[in-house]
Amino acid sequence: MKSFVQSELLAGLPKQFFASLVEKVGKVVAQGHDVINLGQGNPDQPTPPHIVAALQKAAANPQYHKYSPFRGYSFLKEAVAAFYKREYGVTVDPEKEVAILFGGKAGLVEIPQCLLNPGDVVLVPDPGYPDYWSGVALARAQMAMMPLRAANSFLPDYEELAEEDVKKAKLMFLNYPNNPTGAVATKAFFAETVSFAAKHGICVVHDFAYGAIGFDGQKPVSFLQAEGAKEVGIEIYTFSKTYNMAGWRVAFAVGNASVIEAIHLLQDHLYVSLFGAIQEAAAVALLESQQCVHELVALYESRRNTLIQALRNMGWDVTPPAGSFFAWLPVPNGWSSEQFADLLLEEARVVVAPGIGFGEHGEGYVRAGLLTSEERLREAASRMAKLNLFSHAAKK
Ligand SMILES: Cc1ncc(COP(=O)(O)O)c(C=O)c1O
Repeated sequence: MKSFVQSELLAGLPKQFFASLVEKVGKVVAQGHDVINLGQGNPDQPTPPHIVAALQKAAANPQYHKYSPFRGYSFLKEAVAAFYKREYGVTVDPEKEVAILFGGKAGLVEIPQCLLNPGDVVLVPDPGYPDYWSGVALARAQMAMMPLRAANSFLPDYEELAEEDVKKAKLMFLNYPNNPTGAVATKAFFAETVSFAAKHGICVVHDFAYGAIGFDGQKPVSFLQAEGAKEVGIEIYTFSKTYNMAGWRVAFAVGNASVIEAIHLLQDHLYVSLFGAIQEAAAVALLESQQCVHELVALYESRRNTLIQALRNMGWDVTPPAGSFFAWLPVPNGWSSEQFADLLLEEARVVVAPGIGFGEHGEGYVRAGLLTSEERLREAASRMAKLNLFSHAAKK
């Protein structure tokens, strides 16, 4: 069989670090070991039944067996506007300031192609969600990293960025509650972001994937709550985490009308909109009782408390995440994040994601997900405790 050569565009895509982790884990599982996988970000709970029932009913509607309108059904965009008003007190125009997406990932990858030309600069959080890199590569743009440090509560410090990068930057990605650090943003930080972006003509894309998941009674703030935010950017919101709908592939972008129009234009060329029944069920998710969301956040908070307590009991000095469903755990001295993750897999049969996979500034940490039962989290901690890593932290 002739093997066709991939395009230069594909050859230029970043290496998928976590694909090799999945392979390593697969081998250990295939050997028959009981592996506790805290390495991935796939919600473990099912979609709430009233949303599934809405899809089941809507699937029978022949209207939805036809092509959907190109830019999605108005009822879903109106539901998004009602959701933003109710949850954040933010007003958005459903037709001009909302775009329906095939999952947040698709939107995040599309946006650089909508706004950038080859060689343009994008400010990207480090550590950060690797799909930002994919979108930048597909647009043949360049990344300038914004370090997220514990000392600055894992918020970027705009003052430390190179003047050259800031001058050239056209786009910036932010993500709070943050994957992988579990940090949350403040209103003051978003206000500072709006003035920074306005001053330098940068479009802000705030990835609000974990928007619903804030702990200790703190509701995460929306970027659009900052005054003037719509002038300088958009927010991407997904149903994957809030409503356990990761397999459904539905999300939306809200905010600056020119960016929304650019997304619509690209999507007019790439797709017709999502299956209408999914759009109807998504509107139900946004508009009906949010009790399921409160229960989900309580479940993650309880798991967080269990894991953090168990890790502290073994002498591991860890900070509880304020949001998202990830804990960002410092690696003991002497180990790289990858070596440490390998050790946990080999010796404790526990999978964590090495911080280096999220960028250079992720080194020194591993990420553990809260996506399994408290019993399994306790079991994972007890297996790790047996390695006595924290009493003899240095590598031999
Ligand atoms: C930070 C962040 N953004 C976006 C996404 C994408 O979610 P989806 O494509 O399911 O909407 C994820 C999923 O893991 C994520 O962690």
